[in-house]
Amino acid sequence: MSGGADRPASARAPGAPGIASPAPISALLLMGVSGCGKTTVGEALARELGWRFVDADDLHPPANVEKMRSGRPLDDTDRAPWLARLNALLRHSAARGEPVVLACSALRARYRTQLADRVPGLRVVFLRGSQALIEARLADRQHRYMPASLLASQFAALEPPEDAWVADIGEPPAALAAGLAARVRAGAG
Ligand SMILES: Nc1ncnc2c1ncn2[C@@H]1O[C@H](COP(=O)(O)OP(=O)(O)OP(=O)(O)O)[C@@H](O)[C@H]1O
Ligand SMILES: [Mg+2]
Repeated sequence: MSGGADRPASARAPGAPGIASPAPISALLLMGVSGCGKTTVGEALARELGWRFVDADDLHPPANVEKMRSGRPLDDTDRAPWLARLNALLRHSAARGEPVVLACSALRARYRTQLADRVPGLRVVFLRGSQALIEARLADRQHRYMPASLLASQFAALEPPEDAWVADIGEPPAALAAGLAARVRAGAG
């Protein structure tokens, strides 16, 4: 039986020994539907932080690129080797202490689980906006992989994350990047 002078654990000062601190942020996963601004905001954010920027679109196997070009959505069999490759990149970057901003749609929870597997310090950033706003942006954009006609299927597939930082894409890219960089610098877990 402990002595009456012992303080209960709940009375300890925050950060006292015995309270685990979260892993430092090693990577930011910028996710959301096509046209939400993953590449635009991700590049600006990586520049701001001095981190490496990786666009998941650039790591697709050629067969996936061809499929998307012809307007057919990928299935999970197509995605598996791609997600494994991205996960390996995140793990190696974290192990080397080289933080990275990864732009990847990661619409479904299971894709995010695959990406985050054994990656300490990964934070998810959800770039959130309405279908109407994104449709208007995509109408102005020529993109090598994503015809605007696939946007509706993206919204249908989207499983909004529950444990992410949420950024409102109504703000300009520079403001979004500055806000997210400030949050990283503050060490907000
Ligand atoms: N916050 C923003 N405000 C205004 N325009 C934006 C914003 N973010 C992105 N855009 C514009 O919207 C279009 C789509 O952005 P971007 O290509 O970065 O999206 P994406 O999420 O990378 O799309 P994809 O998944 O197809 O690669 C671009 O023309 C970009 O300039
Ligand atoms: Mg992009």
